[in-house]
Amino acid sequence: MKALRTIILAAGKGARMKSELPKVLHTVCGKTLLQYIIDIAKSIGSGKIFIVLGYKRDVVQMTLPKDATAVLQKRLLGTADAVRCTQKFFRGFRGDVLILCADTPLLRKTTVKSLIRKHKKTKAACTVLTMVVHNPDGYGRIIRDESGRVVAIREDKDAVGLERNIAEVNTGAYCFRSQDLFSFLKGISLNAKKKEFYLTDIIALLKEKDLRVETIETEDSKEALGINTREDLAVAGAVLRQRVLKELMDQGVSIVDPQTTYIDASAKIGKDTTIRPFTVIENNVTIGRECMIGPFARLRAGTRIGDAVEVGNFTEVSRTRIGHRTLMKHFSFLGDALVGKKVNIGAGTVTANFDGKDKNTTRIDDNAFIGSDSVLIAPVRIGRGAVVGAGSVVTRNKHIPAGKVAMGVPAKVIVGRRKG
Ligand code: UD1
Ligand code: CA
Repeated sequence: MKALRTIILAAGKGARMKSELPKVLHTVCGKTLLQYIIDIAKSIGSGKIFIVLGYKRDVVQMTLPKDATAVLQKRLLGTADAVRCTQKFFRGFRGDVLILCADTPLLRKTTVKSLIRKHKKTKAACTVLTMVVHNPDGYGRIIRDESGRVVAIREDKDAVGLERNIAEVNTGAYCFRSQDLFSFLKGISLNAKKKEFYLTDIIALLKEKDLRVETIETEDSKEALGINTREDLAVAGAVLRQRVLKELMDQGVSIVDPQTTYIDASAKIGKDTTIRPFTVIENNVTIGRECMIGPFARLRAGTRIGDAVEVGNFTEVSRTRIGHRTLMKHFSFLGDALVGKKVNIGAGTVTANFDGKDKNTTRIDDNAFIGSDSVLIAPVRIGRGAVVGAGSVVTRNKHIPAGKVAMGVPAKVIVGRRKG
């Protein structure tokens, strides 16, 4: 798909979220609303991607990938004005422009592909992605003439009488012929009620000049749910969570109870691993094959777990590596730890990784055995095959040598070697 560029509208404040954080930076399944849309633009093979920023632009800009171009909308004068801000980047561009709103995280890549395909096939000036919903409140309604052709989009605030009942709405995703978009944009006038320039007014302008406007409908009624409130955010979260779980199950991961399992969009989990109920797996976590995770486990960002590992009930693992066949079966916390293979982490083991100022590393080498209720005050190292007796406190900067046994408070190396 050459000659296709994308504009993502992300300048709005999202007043209805009642938040200090710009709306597009709110997250669902560990990913920002904006990132969902950037990922779609990338995955369909779009050329240059322009992201229109306004409200708290600096904060949003920091999250953008390097290959996207941020465009500033100085005053939030509506979606048509937002698109107009990108105009200078499109001079001489003869291809198509995909416009997406940053607040529709449920949008599917396949749907956007169909939108572009239809646009190219019909050679329309504009193709609008529409959606049929149970409750059209808040959305722009698709107005059609007697023969079924789109003639306008009426914004919610301006829809009156029977128009209010129209169930087919604008999703905010469109494909335009670049030249038509920018020449007709100029003709859009300020909406008197909202004091904004509506991109959606372009449809009636195109029709007046007999230019072709096409539509294509989403497969389901939630796919382009626009996130405007915290409630919308929760609804989208529930849908995306089930999608993440389904994808993992399709890849050979057992999810015992999808209703109580929370896995972020970017987590990677190997085949034949079982996730038991009430488990939370956050972003940037990788789990190998044939592991047993949960119930009641929380795996946090930066965690890498090998194959055939058990992380059991009431456990938290954060920024930690765990090698193959290591067992951590009951109530424990590992933070900033490097744990080798075939290690036993006894019940109640805690890494004290934070000294009030810095996070410090705990190293536990292969085959080590950490007895129940041990506290490892980082930085600390437990050598290969070493044993820490139950109830020990291994103090800061200690290195228990390979094969030795240490115990007590503070833990001291005792004479004699580990049995067996
Ligand atoms: C918009 C559409 C509506 C559609 C709905 C789908 C218009 C006029 N209306 O309404 O037809 O049904 O989306 O969700 O386009 N934005 C800017 N600059 C601005 C204003 C908005 O960049 O000045 C961005 C927002 O950050 C947001 C997107 O444009 O990502 C849509 O804006 P929003 O205010 O949410 O529009 P809706 O009222 O939902
Ligand atoms: Ca919206």
